[in-house]
Amino acid sequence: MRKTIQDLNIMKDKKDKIIALTSYDYQTASILDEICDLILVGDSLGNVFQGKETTLSVTLDEIIYHAKAVDKAIANAHFCVDMPFMTYQKSTSSALENIGKVFKETNAQSVKIEMNPDLINLVNKANKIGIPIVAHVGLCPQSYNSYGGYKKQGKTKNERDYIYELAVESYQNGASLLVIEGVPEILADQITKDIEIPTIGIGAGGKTDGQILVAEDMLGITPLPRPSFVKSYTNIRDIIKKAAMEFRKDVKKKKFP
Ligand code: KIV
Repeated sequence: MRKTIQDLNIMKDKKDKIIALTSYDYQTASILDEICDLILVGDSLGNVFQGKETTLSVTLDEIIYHAKAVDKAIANAHFCVDMPFMTYQKSTSSALENIGKVFKETNAQSVKIEMNPDLINLVNKANKIGIPIVAHVGLCPQSYNSYGGYKKQGKTKNERDYIYELAVESYQNGASLLVIEGVPEILADQITKDIEIPTIGIGAGGKTDGQILVAEDMLGITPLPRPSFVKSYTNIRDIIKKAAMEFRKDVKKKKFP
């Protein structure tokens, strides 16, 4: 059975670290499902799957297309789907319409949004309706243009206070999980201690309740350079290259049937 928000809360209580990875396709998700507590169809599919510089062009239809494929593979993990840029920021009512579409069409158990203070009302309303929201704080990739690139957040006290308050307010207004990206470990640790919902970190040190990585980064498929916080556990890029070279040799030598 798929892990619920309640199961992930129990893991936090037991200090059992939550394992999370992204996936955009059936095959990868079917391998990762057994190992992960949470699988996210991230809008990082813009960078990773579509080869774009940012996540900004990913559409609702594209995320739904990928989520439908991943849905077929998930039996064990919690299934979370990212809301793409400008599908939840315009108004609470249009956000709920789009979130509803994702839920109805993909079997998602939660959706992730990149937080700012104007979205607290959406978190609150979604919670009352019974829609689990994963609130993403810290480095929010959809703010690429206002940051001027992918930049670590929380460098100044003002930035740290902003992120801390946004995290606590998201929790107080009913967010079910928190993703904390690209902030100092000390800040992610403080947030993790001060709120009761699980925190999942990426580039935020080792003190969060769980960790998430983009699967292609973890597998060494993403071309170099990869983000500095990424540990690649294998080099699938080289393995694919080697296999394709063997195939090429066989075909050239007319060895292949
Ligand atoms: O889009 C994504 O894949 C993400 C995770 C890396 C947290 O937001």
